Amino acid sequence: MPFACRLLEFAASPAALEIQEIPSTPPGSGEVILHMLAASVNPADINVIEGTYGELPDLPATIGNEGYGIISQIGPNVNGLTIGTPVIVLKSGAWTTEMRVSAGEVVPLPQGIDPWQAAMLSVNPATAWRMLHDFTDLQSGDWIVQNAANSAVGRAVIQLAHALGFRTLNVVRRPELGDELRAIGADLVVLEDVDLRLEALRLCGGSLPRLALNAVGGSSALNIANALAPGSPHVTYGAMGRQPLKIPNGLLIFKNISFCGFWLRRWREGASLQEIHDTYHVLSEFILSGVLKTPVHRIFPLTQVLEAVNEASLAGRSGKVLLDLGSCKTH
Ligand SMILES: NC(=O)c1ccc[n+]([C@@H]2O[C@H](COP(=O)([O-])OP(=O)(O)OC[C@H]3O[C@@H](n4cnc5c(N)ncnc54)[C@H](OP(=O)(O)O)[C@@H]3O)[C@@H](O)[C@H]2O)c1
Repeated sequence: MPFACRLLEFAASPAALEIQEIPSTPPGSGEVILHMLAASVNPADINVIEGTYGELPDLPATIGNEGYGIISQIGPNVNGLTIGTPVIVLKSGAWTTEMRVSAGEVVPLPQGIDPWQAAMLSVNPATAWRMLHDFTDLQSGDWIVQNAANSAVGRAVIQLAHALGFRTLNVVRRPELGDELRAIGADLVVLEDVDLRLEALRLCGGSLPRLALNAVGGSSALNIANALAPGSPHVTYGAMGRQPLKIPNGLLIFKNISFCGFWLRRWREGASLQEIHDTYHVLSEFILSGVLKTPVHRIFPLTQVLEAVNEASLAGRSGKVLLDLGSCKTH
């Protein structure tokens, strides 16, 4: 029998999670069964457990926003997929050893891709890639400013921007991260207390950033807005600091900064299947070539999901917390 991590109620603590045996059902028409191998623990998963995320499942629910597995069974009326193909899944419920999904909800990956990197591909690198492309027409040499630069999204922004010829001004809250982020392609790394309204022009050698990416909110969001060139977009995609944005009128009137948001789920809903596959194809190639690499903090077996969620909630992690789904014995 397969196992799944079920959320029984929304709660401040992960104690509301339970590992349950679930019945194995054959694939219906247009469906495939995935033997799940790895999943990540993201801030969005923690927000779902708390009941604070933008969209919440009916309970009890198998949760987990992203995961990686192998196609193990194929139902009738499925074309172009074969048993044994490695895939990522575009549906929540990935913290399980077996998943039944419609064929359109999986994206095949190249054989040989690192399973742990694949388990961290569908949400954060895709968010970074879309934000670099969908808000303004960046040119080679242009600057991007971002906060939470040590996050998985932030690191993907650094690596992808570097590969595309853009430059990044990165704001972090811990001084020890500077060398690490410069080693993966960051052009500049500064601490939260640097006033970018006064310093950005000097730091960026006379040309102000043309895109701001905000995953913190509050004063940090304002600080990176103050670094922008007139007419640039300021994109909020996360709220790690749990503080609202307070925007001075002048940023709108005199600098014409456009404040907008990004949600990957909304992008997927509006994108064609081809666009979605193209995005993940490019990102898989970046993983295979070593351009894109997300650090792993710690890997837990599914049976230790409570410990995994607690660990993922801690500040100062060195990378993502992952769940090893393949280690869960089925019978
Ligand atoms: N909108 C979307 O579609 C979308 C998609 C993906 C992710 N996100 C959001 O993006 C954010 C980052 O996700 P992730 O998975 O990349 O994160 P992550 O790898 O788990 O890292 C979290 C980051 O947030 C920083 N942080 C935590 N609390 C903070 C605070 N109070 N002030 C400043 N920084 C703080 C941490 O700093 P330290 O390194 O110093 O600990 C760390 O760099 C989350 O809010 C997530 O929900 C949104």
